Formats: sequence, C-alpha cells, structure tokens
Amino acid sequence: MTPENTKGQYLPSDEYRKTAMVKSVDEYTRLYSESMKDPVAYWVKQAEHIDWFSKGWKEPFTWNKKKDEFTWFKGGKLNVSYNCLDRHVKNGLKNTAAIIFQGEDDKDVRVYTYGQLLHEVERFSNVLKKNGVKKGDRVAVYLPMIPELAITLLACTRVGAIHSVVFAGFSSDAIFNRVADCTPKVLVTSDGSYRAGKKIDMKGKVNEILERDTSVEHVLVVKHTGADVVMEKDRDVWWHEEMEKVPLKCEPEVMDAEDPLFMLYTSGTTGKPKGMVHVNGGYLVGVNSSFRYIFNYNPGQVYWCTADIGWITGHSSILYGPLSVGATTLMFEGVPNYPENDRFWQVAEKWKVDIFYTAPTALRMIRKNGDDWIKKHDLSSLKMLASVGEPIDADVWKWYHRVIGGGRCPIADTWWQTETGSIIIAPLTGAFDLKPGSAMKPLPGIKTGVFREDKTECGVGESGNLFLMEPFPSLARTIWNDHAKYVEQYWATFPGHYLTGDGARIDADGDHWLLGRVDDVISVAGHRIGAAEIEAALIAHPAVAEAAVVPVPDEIKGEAIYTFVTLKDGFTESEDLKKQLINQVRNVVGPIATPKTIQISQGLPKTRSGKIMRRLLRKIAGGSSQSELGDTTTLLDPSVIESLIKGRL
Ligand code: WT7
Repeated sequence: MTPENTKGQYLPSDEYRKTAMVKSVDEYTRLYSESMKDPVAYWVKQAEHIDWFSKGWKEPFTWNKKKDEFTWFKGGKLNVSYNCLDRHVKNGLKNTAAIIFQGEDDKDVRVYTYGQLLHEVERFSNVLKKNGVKKGDRVAVYLPMIPELAITLLACTRVGAIHSVVFAGFSSDAIFNRVADCTPKVLVTSDGSYRAGKKIDMKGKVNEILERDTSVEHVLVVKHTGADVVMEKDRDVWWHEEMEKVPLKCEPEVMDAEDPLFMLYTSGTTGKPKGMVHVNGGYLVGVNSSFRYIFNYNPGQVYWCTADIGWITGHSSILYGPLSVGATTLMFEGVPNYPENDRFWQVAEKWKVDIFYTAPTALRMIRKNGDDWIKKHDLSSLKMLASVGEPIDADVWKWYHRVIGGGRCPIADTWWQTETGSIIIAPLTGAFDLKPGSAMKPLPGIKTGVFREDKTECGVGESGNLFLMEPFPSLARTIWNDHAKYVEQYWATFPGHYLTGDGARIDADGDHWLLGRVDDVISVAGHRIGAAEIEAALIAHPAVAEAAVVPVPDEIKGEAIYTFVTLKDGFTESEDLKKQLINQVRNVVGPIATPKTIQISQGLPKTRSGKIMRRLLRKIAGGSSQSELGDTTTLLDPSVIESLIKGRL
C-alpha cells in the first residue's frame, strides 16, 4: 500500500519511485528552478528528444508582443510521422506494438507494430496525395475510434496536410460549420461506428452535410460496420480500394517547426467555435516532454487513455505523446458500460494495462454502479493512474486510488486545455506527496500565476484567474482565420500573459487547486460547451425571444445545462414547446449539449446596459434564495428575480 503521511498526502512506493523519471521533490525543485532561470534553454534541451532534419533555427524563441505572435524553433525542420514511426523502426522498435486496438466487440482486435503502422501510414499518405492533398491543405476527419483514424492523422502529418478532427457527437449543423470554416479538400470518414451495441451511421450524416456547398472534393470511406451506404460517384471512394492502387513508400515531407500541424475546434464565449491551430515543432516537443514527465512509461508497458479523438486529449494523449516516445498505446472503441458496467476493467485485465488515464465523469459513473464490477477483475498490472477534463474532487480521487489502483498506484490529476496542446499542471508521481483534489505543480518550463481582476497577484490560498505567464512551445499559435479573436480572447486581458479562463488558487506549498471555468463555458462530462452556442441555437427557434444558459451541478456529469427562455408574443409555455426547444439544441449543437432543464420565464435579469446577468441566473438555477443573490436593485427590472425563483424547476 502507498504510505500516507500525517497531512493526508499519498507517497509513491519505493518500487514505483525507482521506475519514475523524476524521483524526488528535490530533483523536481532543481529542475523547475533551473528551467525558470532560462526557459528557452530548457525547451531547447527538451527539443533534443525530437529528431530534426535540421535544427536550422536562428532564435529558438521569438515573441512579438504587439501582435501576440511567437515562434519556437522556427527554421528547424522535422516531420511528425517520422518522429512517431520511422525513427522508432530504425531504433529497434520495428516489432514492438505501437497501437493495440480493442473494438467494442471483444473479438474485434488489431495490433499494429511500429513497422506495420509505418507501412500503413506510408500507403495512406499516397492515397491522400492521389486524391489531391498537398502540403498545407486541410483534411477533415470524421471517424470512429479505429486504427484508420490514427493512420489518417499520421499520414496527414507525413504529407504536411493540416488535419481537423470533428467530434462524432456533434450534429450535422455543427459539423458543417466546422467544415465550412477550415475548407478541407478531403474528408475521411467511415460507413459507421459502434456504440453500446448499436451501429451508428456516419456516412449518411456526411452526405447530408455535403449536400450543402463545401470545399470538399473527395470523401475517403473506411468500411467498418458494413452498413449500406450511398457513395457519390466521382466524389466518394473506399479506403481499402484506394490503398490497393498506390505505391508502398512515401517519404516524409520536410516541415518547418512553425508550419501548422492540425487544428481542433473548441468552444469559447461566443457562438462561433474556435479552430485552435497547433504547429509541428512546438507541439511535438510539448507532448513528447510532458508524456515523459507525467506517465513514467517504461518499455514493454501498455498505456491506455480512454479519451475520444474528437478532443485534444485524444490527439496528444492517445496518439502523438505516446507514439513520439515509442510507447504502446491502447485504442478503444466503446463505452464504460457496454456490454456491462465492467467494460473498462475487462479491457484493462485483458491487455494487462500498466497506465490508465481517464476523466472524472467516467469515474463518477463507474463508482455509482458499485465496486463489485471492479472487484471481479485482476487489476494488479496497473502501476499509475491519471485524470483529466475537470477537477477531480478528493472523494472520487481517494476512491480511484483505493478501488481501481488497489491503494498502490499514484494518481496524476492533469490540468490542460485544447489551447495548451499538452499537459501543463500535474504532479510528478514518482516525486511528490500527492494531495487528493489538487493538480499540484506546473511542469518545468511553465510559469503560472493567479491574479485578481485588477491584475494584482493573489495571496496564498486566494482564488483568482489562472494565467500562464509566457508562451511555451505547445501553446496554440492562433485561431484559424481569426487572429484578432485569439488576441482578444487570450492575451488582451493581461497583456503578455495567457488567460486560461479557469479559476484557481495556489496554497502555501505552491500546489494548484483548479476551480473550474470563470467564463460562460459549461463543462458537461468534461466536454467544453459555450453557453452562447446553445443560446444561439435556442434563439433560432421561432418561439424564442431570449435565452440564457448556465451550468448547474450534476452528480455524474459535473455540470448540466440549465436554460432560461423568454417567449415571443403569441407563444405560450407547453410541454410540447419545451420538447421542441430541447430538440432544437440537439439538432443545432448536438446531443452532448442537451439541456437538462428549460425554464420559461417572463423576463431575464439585465444590467441597465442590457447585459444578461448570468452570474445571478447561475445562482438561481443552483437553488439560491433572494437574500443569497446580493444586491439586485441595480437591475433594469429587479422584479424578475422573484418570478424566476418562483418558476425554478
Ligand atoms: C478545460 C479545457 C485537455 C483536457 C481535455 C479538455 C478543464 C481540464 C482539468 C483538471 C480541472 C480541468 C478546465 C480547462 N480541465 N483538465 N485536471 N482539473 N479542470 O480540454 O475541452 O480544451 O477543456 O477543461 O476548465 O480550461 P478542453
């Protein structure tokens, strides 16, 4: 059992410590303070873990503070697929498993060694080229969690195309908007996916999207479920047929460190999702170095991150991080509770998983189903555990440690974002005495700060806004097509410092406690959804005059969506109308954004300048009484508060 100290902190066992990259607090402190003396030198050293075709940079780091533009390793040349595949094949990992694919059906298993994966990626790179894809072109990817997904992304990086993965949980509208924004030439999809025993159609949805005018010239379709699909002549081609027609070898394109690698959309405070742009060099250095520090991966181990590829976790923590170090990464198509509630543990036992990385929302659901599902399985192969997506409260942390980790495995609560590309704040589990509920300390090379609204620094234990003080290599460079928005969103609040949008406090030991979003972004099951996106969907309904959307606490999902709606004249409240509104959100944004509650009200609380006071609505939805709302007399119409509280559902 991991010893626990008198302060309730959990220490790594000596056995685990021996296998860790950083083995003591002193070692971390030395590393961290050295990195802060000269962050650029630190990152240049991290860049040595990447194979460069040429390290031709003049300045490893440039920063134009006026334009909020920065570069890392510009002039350096590399290829990401080369770093994830070719170099490992050359260095003796040819016959080592790169990807273990476990399908939803337990018999659906495919294992790709580094040698095989390179072979497939080279072939598919040629398929992309054959279909007109050139360096700098965008490729939209709408695929289930299958090996072809990994092959597609790696092939994009090989030919220098910029991939844009769209999350399968979005509606056609949401997907269309993302495709329209990044103007891809090619879209890669499949006939369908499996989810909880059902075949889900994917190609039909793509056909629907492409009925509208888009830039897509070719659709490459993977046969996965065998469902009947409609293929459009001259536009759509089968993956397996194309793979037969191309040469087997494909040299990696020479990319500049600052060339875009991929974009990934994330929700912000406006209705329009932002295509965050990551670049070849800095991103790879960041995910490679954070993977090495956090997971203490040792050769021969099996690493499993349960995330979906539609999110940054899937990109960095299933693919690029582990593959860049030559690890074996398990890729799972399925859900935690199908065919039964022990699916995760069945898979972990089957593949003797060493390192397991999941989200608090999954843990809360699993815990609710009862420990018996877990106890049925031999999980003695597990060595370390990790968590991402939202704060993991101390209670769930301790349960994760005791029941899943057998009291033996340290837990890394990892804080990061789509924008940061790689893990930013997390304990080094071979070194730290762990504090349940805290993400603890920034990685070397990263400087954090917590500030009040007036930009003075918070004192010890005081909550404020979390900033990352300087650009680091894996931080997104811009928003696709909208640098002005990037500047406004991240750099304008406190010039020269990156605004995370999260609240945090730092305790007397320098450990970080994350407090959730401080902006109008809702985190449903760890998925970021902009309140404004849902509001825009509601307002598009003919009955709706105004809408305001706020989060309410939810036992499993962390946060759920509570919406306040006012109706246009001539419309009256009914159950049918509420159903219509819920469907409206599902159709425009997607099922992940389904509101839990719709409260129809006469009015909304507004400031005299007409701004909706979401802060008050949050409290009302959360159950606060009038006296707990503070002074509401400055509102345009203070009387709405009483009726909102009365009508609370
Ligand atoms: C937001 C980023 C990169 C992970 C997947 C989500 C929240 C993430 C933690 C954590 C507390 C966390 C933050 C952040 N978040 N990890 N360990 N503790 N909060 O990526 O969709 O870009 O969301 O997720 O609020 O800002 P994302």
